Amino acid sequence: LNYRVPRTRKEIFETLIKGLERLEYRGYDSAGVAVDGNDNKDNERFIKLVKKRGKVKALDEELYKQDGLDLKVDFETHFGIAHTRWATHGVPSVVNSHPQRSGKGNEFVVIHNGIITNYKDLRKFLESKGYEFESETDTETIPKLIKYIYDNRETEDISFSALVERVIQQLEGAFALVFKSSHYLGEAVAARRGSPLLIGVRSKYKLSTEQISVLYRSCNIENVKNICKTRMKRLDGSTYLHAVGDKAVEFFFASDASAIIEHTNRVIFLEDDDIAAVTDGKLSIHRLKRSASDDPSRAIQTLQMELQQIMKGNFSAFMQKEIFEQPESVVNTMRGRVNFENSTVLLGGLKDHLKEIRRCRRLIIIGCGTSYHAAVATRQVLEELTELPVMVELASDFLDRNTPVFRDDVCFFVSQSGETADTLMALRYCKERRALTVGITNTVGSSISRDTDCGVHINAGPEIGVASTKAYTSQFISLVMFGLMMSEDRISLQKRRQEIISGLQSLPEMIKEVLSLDEKIHDLALELYKQRSLLVMGRGYNYATCLEGALKIKEITYMHSEGILAGELKHGPLALIDKQMPVIMVIMKDPCFNKCQNALQQITARQGRPIILCSKEDTESSKYAYKTIELPHTVDCLQGVLSVIPLQLLSFHLAVLRGYDVDFPRNLAKSVTVE
Ligand code: G6P
Repeated sequence: LNYRVPRTRKEIFETLIKGLERLEYRGYDSAGVAVDGNDNKDNERFIKLVKKRGKVKALDEELYKQDGLDLKVDFETHFGIAHTRWATHGVPSVVNSHPQRSGKGNEFVVIHNGIITNYKDLRKFLESKGYEFESETDTETIPKLIKYIYDNRETEDISFSALVERVIQQLEGAFALVFKSSHYLGEAVAARRGSPLLIGVRSKYKLSTEQISVLYRSCNIENVKNICKTRMKRLDGSTYLHAVGDKAVEFFFASDASAIIEHTNRVIFLEDDDIAAVTDGKLSIHRLKRSASDDPSRAIQTLQMELQQIMKGNFSAFMQKEIFEQPESVVNTMRGRVNFENSTVLLGGLKDHLKEIRRCRRLIIIGCGTSYHAAVATRQVLEELTELPVMVELASDFLDRNTPVFRDDVCFFVSQSGETADTLMALRYCKERRALTVGITNTVGSSISRDTDCGVHINAGPEIGVASTKAYTSQFISLVMFGLMMSEDRISLQKRRQEIISGLQSLPEMIKEVLSLDEKIHDLALELYKQRSLLVMGRGYNYATCLEGALKIKEITYMHSEGILAGELKHGPLALIDKQMPVIMVIMKDPCFNKCQNALQQITARQGRPIILCSKEDTESSKYAYKTIELPHTVDCLQGVLSVIPLQLLSFHLAVLRGYDVDFPRNLAKSVTVE
């Protein structure tokens, strides 16, 4: 949305499409845009919608084929919207994709992230009033509802944001919404509840963050000097928090900073129930209701994210790049936190809460998918170092069970994106029960990092491949660092701490050594890629490696894969073993070594041909192996950081050989913002 920064329609298309491309990593099945059309022959204004199933590239091509969209037309003010959809209600199709619309010439169009839980009731009501629906989506109730409110308005000159305010009062569920209307051309209105939404601000004037936030606090109009305007006033019972605006400014509304980072790194994160409107070049944010805890300012923050950080580099896929980044990403996770000289660990985001955590009844670690596996991987070492009971929970199951949570529990929420709906709901559940909440996320400014009492940013850098890799190893290390910090005063644990801290120090070099096995793993993939199933078996510290390895394989190769606890072998999985079934066994020199040897014997006795991931110095296991991948040996509780990498690489090569899109596996999304 630009003010007095003339842009051609072509530039507007390019900005919208580029933004969508930057969000591709989140996963989607269709995409669409809405822009102002040329005035039609009756001189009526209309909004042009272009939507397409499949890739953003297909949408881009479609845009240029449209009649009535002269590319050279200049706009002084123009507001366009674009969206990629991942189906929740209704199959992936053009009609179900966004923007959704209402009225003749698309009077109101809306894009929506999240889910409207009362859409059935709303739809019934609107249908009874004669509004016709075309899609199967929950979202379509929103443009129809705003049209209904507009059609029944009491006063002629109702503002766009007042309409939106009435709409969101009727909505239940989670949403980030952006509205466009032919009645309010050149105006933008956005609102959120439960789903992320931010506004990028680009101005040719240099404004420092402080200037803006001081301005917010003092609300001093005199100081503004034509650059920004700030005001507070009451309107319809709601409170205008602030208004920022100038004469040559562009605003970018987005669900994720990567969509806009090439235009500006200065952003405002909206809070739940904020309604942000740009009218006549001014941004105003107001809220439905004002509560005592409301922070009366929305500071403009400067993001430190660089564009090349989110580009593919020399690799064929983001996932591959991210696997190979691990020697650096683990260093970034530990940077400034682990002091290898005096063997101390300091996590700045937790230090003020350490006393409280030490006094707690138990630790509960909650996550989904890979993040859950990072919790499984570190549970044993956390029990050992904290001497507390540690529960590890899948967020969905934790909620399904109405798990009892108490005030003296400490609940960890592990999430790469910080936006996963199941994990976020579990966080709300624990907050209601007054437990101390700790976020372990990779996304600064994400809902989980903002809504928890304290936490750790894992600092792995943006992860774009849908299959999580470097975030897993960084989550793993973050949880281990937490254990180390908790045990600093325990005399009996000093030797163990020392051993783990030196293990951490040598990890980056060892990861490089594991990555050098890439070619060997590629050869293994050549042997396996036509198989239908792949079992991954292990126990103890490496059970999580098996779960995570199998998840990687199913996510991107679409082969059936199971992570099996070797201790359970004889209780069922052994029936699967024969000459044909490929089995990967993770056998490390740790306290489970002998038990793993038993499992190995049981497999070879059934003509199984195990592929074994083992330590370099292990001469025992290789005798029975069909193939071995030998890994450097590290301290038992960190071995999982190394042993998962061959499985990450294997899944990558299998997917490529099977001809699949590694970064965007079918049916999956990077960030699952619906329950
Ligand atoms: C999705 C992704 C998984 C990820 C899980 C949890 O299902 O496809 O790769 O592990 O969400 O995501 P989070 O962002 O909470 O770690």
